[in-house]
Amino acid sequence: MRHFNYKNGELYAEDVPLRDIAAKTGTPVYIYSTATLERHFNVFTQAFAGRKALVAYSVKANSNLGVLATLSKMGAGADVVSGGELARALSAGIPSTKIVFSGVGKTRPEMDMALKAGIKVFNVESLAELHVLNERAGVMKLKAPIAFRVNPDVSAGGHEKISTGKAENKFGIAWSRAQAAYAEAAKLPHIEIIGVDVHIGSQITELTPFKAAIEKVGGLIKRLRAQGHNIKSFDVGGGLGIPYNSDNDVPPGPDAYGRLVKQLTADMEIELIFEPGRMIAGNAGVLLSRVIYVKQGEDRKFAILDAAMNDLIRPALYDAYHEIEPVMQTTSDLRSLYDVVGPVCETGDTFAKQRSLPDLKADDLVVFHSAGAYGAVLSSQYNTRPLIPEVMVNGAEFSVIRQRPSLEDMLSLESMPDWLSATHNAV
Ligand code: LLP
Repeated sequence: MRHFNYKNGELYAEDVPLRDIAAKTGTPVYIYSTATLERHFNVFTQAFAGRKALVAYSVKANSNLGVLATLSKMGAGADVVSGGELARALSAGIPSTKIVFSGVGKTRPEMDMALKAGIKVFNVESLAELHVLNERAGVMKLKAPIAFRVNPDVSAGGHEKISTGKAENKFGIAWSRAQAAYAEAAKLPHIEIIGVDVHIGSQITELTPFKAAIEKVGGLIKRLRAQGHNIKSFDVGGGLGIPYNSDNDVPPGPDAYGRLVKQLTADMEIELIFEPGRMIAGNAGVLLSRVIYVKQGEDRKFAILDAAMNDLIRPALYDAYHEIEPVMQTTSDLRSLYDVVGPVCETGDTFAKQRSLPDLKADDLVVFHSAGAYGAVLSSQYNTRPLIPEVMVNGAEFSVIRQRPSLEDMLSLESMPDWLSATHNAV
């Protein structure tokens, strides 16, 4: 059940009419539902009841401090991929002992930050990284807890830009080199092996790829243990898909995913770690936008919105589908086909082509559903469009959790080169 529903002919987020938020913050604006975030987190954790499991929310999906604090309060850990995300997770109150650090290019300063914080585990992706981590931990007279992220060469299906578990992808330790990597790590004085990690991709809509990856990595864990490595945790990553199109998407739910993972790991005596991002945040958010103009083209109608590809890039980048709905329900059955576009000067600034929608006119409010994950975090200021505000709803209350910067704020980070400054030539 989602918490964006029509009541009395208009769309609400929980008990707040979206119209009220638009009136307060202007549009476009991202809106997140606390109840949905909580529900998704609960459903996911309950799927692993009875097992030792850490749900490390993947911060990259939506890193707003309000979202992180909501999940932190429920006991979530965090999967971070940069020093910036680590700082966010810590500042939202997520304990360092529940933070896992992933990514192929961790820098020395990022490692230092994470070592100082005392995170749970570094998911190491290359031998080069392993040696640098050993050196940094040595300087700090510590042992760095590590798991290798292994690349199981399993196809996750879905869009090629978000597949990560194939041999040709940059991620993880090559499958044929994994055992040697553990042998090498075991020799290093400032490294402590604690587990194995795998993540094969995102928006995965079948269980088969998870099954293949977990079976393959399960075999590796057995071999590593037989070789004397103390493998205490198995991080199975994130990637569980969500319904974007309520008419025809039926990805497996967390319960089915949970049953599969529990069954495949039943005899392992191991702590499970999960890194779900989209599953938690995706359907907990909408992007609210206003129609600026409706234009009749040669052979089609364009609905030109005030949101653009810089605010929500998923359609332009991955041909992603987002459901679009008007905020006010109409009594008439009239519908038209629209190309739904933004004001940015690129043809790629197209959210949907020939989408059937109730008749739209200027000033109408519309929402993009399933925009809570990989929405705000992927936005930019292209065309000098300010980053848009983010709002969190909780029951009948709402709060602005990120302000729209003013144009002065945006310009203030830039300065003239010395040779163009007024005083330069006067000297
Ligand atoms: N763990 C690792 C190591 C990851 O790389 C990712 C996502 C996750 C966990 C979380 O995956 P999720 O549960 O959210 O599928 N921008 C793309 C998605 C990129 C995913 C990147 N990695 C999109 O908008 O579809």
